[in-house]
Amino acid sequence: NDLYAVVGHPISHSKSPRIHSLFAEQTGQALEYTAIQAPLEDFAGTVNTFFNRGGKGLNVTVPFKEEAWNLVEERTPAADAAGAVNTLYRDDQQRLCGDNTDGPGLVRDLTVNHGLDLKDKSILVLGAGGAVRGILAPLIAQQPLRIVVANRTPSKAEKLAGLFAGPLPIRGCGFDEVEDTFDLVINGTSASLQGDLPPLSPGIIGPKTVSYDMMYGPELTPFNRWASDQGAGQVIDGLGMLVEQAAESFARWRGIRPDTSLVMEALRDRVG
Ligand code: ATR
Repeated sequence: NDLYAVVGHPISHSKSPRIHSLFAEQTGQALEYTAIQAPLEDFAGTVNTFFNRGGKGLNVTVPFKEEAWNLVEERTPAADAAGAVNTLYRDDQQRLCGDNTDGPGLVRDLTVNHGLDLKDKSILVLGAGGAVRGILAPLIAQQPLRIVVANRTPSKAEKLAGLFAGPLPIRGCGFDEVEDTFDLVINGTSASLQGDLPPLSPGIIGPKTVSYDMMYGPELTPFNRWASDQGAGQVIDGLGMLVEQAAESFARWRGIRPDTSLVMEALRDRVG
């Protein structure tokens, strides 16, 4: 069987092995997918050993996505823009290549799974770390009206907005500078990990606002709970994004796209 894995630190809670095993079963692909914890100081060595032993592909997760971006010899345009790599493979000349499927996974979850049309919509993105950088180009490609990136450290949001400046208006600022109501609010901060909520004006949420938290869990995330309390029209968590980014990686490796809805149901039963 062809061998794949997810590499991170820590890794024991990763759902990727289960997701990819379900994909493989469903599409009849003979592959094995495991989880590898790389030592913090030897990500590169872990990756090289894996491929030198015949491994076919790796997913990369926290905290190695930026390091993976630096390590690869070739990058897809998506990975290049994201500044981070979550999918590794070797091409036919044995060069290490990197893709990033997080942003496409998010957009696919929003547009296909939830049927949202992002064209001409106003989007607020919270956070300015690696997770947010990875989603901006795919969001811009949907031609929204504008994007505001708000962050605890405003200068990081301004810098990120500058990086993606183009025909589409994109502005970076602090949380306290955001007052308008948005069509879509995406929480890409890691605040929930500390049980925190970004300090936001309730006015950003209206009855038609869709709130999307890139985190997920058995219960509403703190951010989606807050958005729901402010009267958001719809709240969505990041489980769909997780499954869709996995499907994009699977497709890149195997040339076949699994049906994600069945896998989503299987996971939701477990999570919920
Ligand atoms: P990731 O790869 O998950 O994006 P990261 O690059 O460390 O991780 O970025 C974490 C993001 O969550 C940042 O935008 C961070 O804000 P700062 O840039 O000001 O550090 C944000 N964040 C983390 N903890 C937060 C909290 N308690 N409240 C609000 N924002 C928080």
